[in-house]
Amino acid sequence: MSSKAVFDDLLQEEREFPPSPEFAAAAVVSDKAIYDRAAKDPVAFWEEMAKELEWFAPWKEVMSWTPPDVKWFTGGKLNLTHNCLDRHLKTATRNKAALIWEGENFETRTMTYQQLHTEVCKFANAIRSLGVAKGDRVAIYMPMMIEAVVAMLACARIGAIHSIVFGGFSPESLSDRINDAEAKLLITADGGWRRGNVLRLKDEADKALAKCTCIENVVVVKRPLGEPFPCHIKEGRDHWYHRLMADASPDCPPETMDAEDPLYILYTSGTTGKPKGIVHTTGGYSVGTYATTKYVFDLKPEDVYWCTADVGWVTGHSYIVYGPLQCGATNLIFEGAPNWPENDRFWEMVARHRVNVFYTAPTAIRAFMKWGDDLPAKHDLSSLRLLGSVGEPINPEAWMWYHEHIGGGTCPIVDTWWQTETGGIMITTLPGVCTAKPGYAGLPFPGIQATILNEAGEEVTGGTGLLAITHPWPSMLRTIWGDHDRYVSTYFSKWDKSVYFPGDGAKRDAKGNFMILGRVDDVLNVSGHRIGTMEVESALVDHPAVAEAAVIGKKHDIKGQSIVAFVTLKGGATRSEKTESDLKQHVVEKIGAIARPEAIIIGGDLPKTRSGKIMRRLLRDIVEGRTASDTTTLADPSVFEEIREMYEEKFKS
Ligand code: WT7
Repeated sequence: MSSKAVFDDLLQEEREFPPSPEFAAAAVVSDKAIYDRAAKDPVAFWEEMAKELEWFAPWKEVMSWTPPDVKWFTGGKLNLTHNCLDRHLKTATRNKAALIWEGENFETRTMTYQQLHTEVCKFANAIRSLGVAKGDRVAIYMPMMIEAVVAMLACARIGAIHSIVFGGFSPESLSDRINDAEAKLLITADGGWRRGNVLRLKDEADKALAKCTCIENVVVVKRPLGEPFPCHIKEGRDHWYHRLMADASPDCPPETMDAEDPLYILYTSGTTGKPKGIVHTTGGYSVGTYATTKYVFDLKPEDVYWCTADVGWVTGHSYIVYGPLQCGATNLIFEGAPNWPENDRFWEMVARHRVNVFYTAPTAIRAFMKWGDDLPAKHDLSSLRLLGSVGEPINPEAWMWYHEHIGGGTCPIVDTWWQTETGGIMITTLPGVCTAKPGYAGLPFPGIQATILNEAGEEVTGGTGLLAITHPWPSMLRTIWGDHDRYVSTYFSKWDKSVYFPGDGAKRDAKGNFMILGRVDDVLNVSGHRIGTMEVESALVDHPAVAEAAVIGKKHDIKGQSIVAFVTLKGGATRSEKTESDLKQHVVEKIGAIARPEAIIIGGDLPKTRSGKIMRRLLRDIVEGRTASDTTTLADPSVFEEIREMYEEKFKS
């Protein structure tokens, strides 16, 4: 893995936004001393957080660390659903809305904590009756519906390990993930609505199932409300959710889980063609998501909280389901898209549901900017008191727009840096005590120790370097499913094996605030979605016409990055617009629509060294509009010029 230390570091940001005195006075954290206290003894800080949750048996040791492996709350017993559900049944939270769901067609359903508890217990019994037991893997492939949350919690209730695959992934991506985890149950739905179209998930799942031998049973949720979508039900294998639920008992005591028992697997892209199954455990993940939700989102019992992510991504796991439910929050969840039926859907919803805390991605914010200031201005957004951002660096221009046009110039913004692997938020501002700076994520969360290192592992004090996490934290991944060596080599081999390497570039200001500058490895971030260049390259060379492929991320105004592919064809294949569109479609079929290349340049050859290695650096120069950095090792300079001309022709506007 080579670090291309080419950062967009021209930015000098000096604007500062402290919280208003009113916000600070009412905040969950109103004393900055928490940082010093946690820094002195991070392990004691996390133990204090853990004590706010309910455990069936206490831990014997808070942390045991044999780098790079770590265990948290060793010997402690708990069940995460007890802290999400049962614990609240003893208080007034019992009758509070846990989930407010809104469908694309404006239907709404509300479920209280008590109702959610009943639903989860029944479904837990239902999947048990299908032979699912503690430690078994369950794949979930669902649209944004209440039953997706129920499915996750039902797994956690009985100690089954869920593996959610985002509904936008292709059948092939789904079958790869099912097979890697050897899941025995798949939970899916007949379909959902997306921008006026029906997403027929069961049909997609059926295509995947043709390539899976490990799946024994499939549960299919019929989308509640509205017309159901027709789909095929295979007798003996497929079961309707509502039929199972009609017979299920609501009595399901939570399985006693060890703190280190796996809770879930979530696949994410890396630098090879094969996604990594990130494994999170029960105890540490509970504590990490609980503490960060409470402190970063400053949740008050009366708040309506809306995170616009999908449960298919880690943001949905940690900040729609596990963190907010442990905090007893009221969660708005939305099936649809921000631009359906109109571009002001989100603001119309914020006004109608009186949303207080709103968490979204920079790519969405940049789209809102483009759609115009008049759209948020049409709606009463005065209920909002805190805004969040996640998924990629937020450019200061988008930060300022969010602040002014959504936050009314008063809401603090928390820019939260974290990853699928970290389980929870790692770097951000605590909104009641920190001064935010556009473009800066802020300080490591209390109990998190981060720094910036160079390749040699020396600390960088001024200027840019590589982000490094120097101490374990409870919600960190414990392994990659079935491949512990890859865990060690990806995350703990850059420097000392006690230091976690996230793969991001960063710099710090004089006060220690971190600005995250983006990935330094071969991982792209397209609209906040993580996609490996190698995955797209593998999908392209899988096409019968393609000989070679190289994929580069191109800066994109709304998406952050878009995908540009350079390919050469096998003898006999013709270079044409039809070939280009066929190849794009092939990538969509292999991975999913999120990986569709913006452009494919079909050259006679790719720039290579004399030993035949593709020089991606030169392709990056083309895409970034730079003069070629160093062409001396290039075998045939005319190849490079031909490709550059083709590229410029394609993008001239
Ligand atoms: C990568 C992780 C975190 C949940 C969603 C994405 C980038 C994420 C920020 C931020 C700058 C960010 C990083 C990171 N990233 N949040 N606030 N500022 N960059 O999770 O798919 O695991 O991707 O997203 O590059 O490494 P993910």
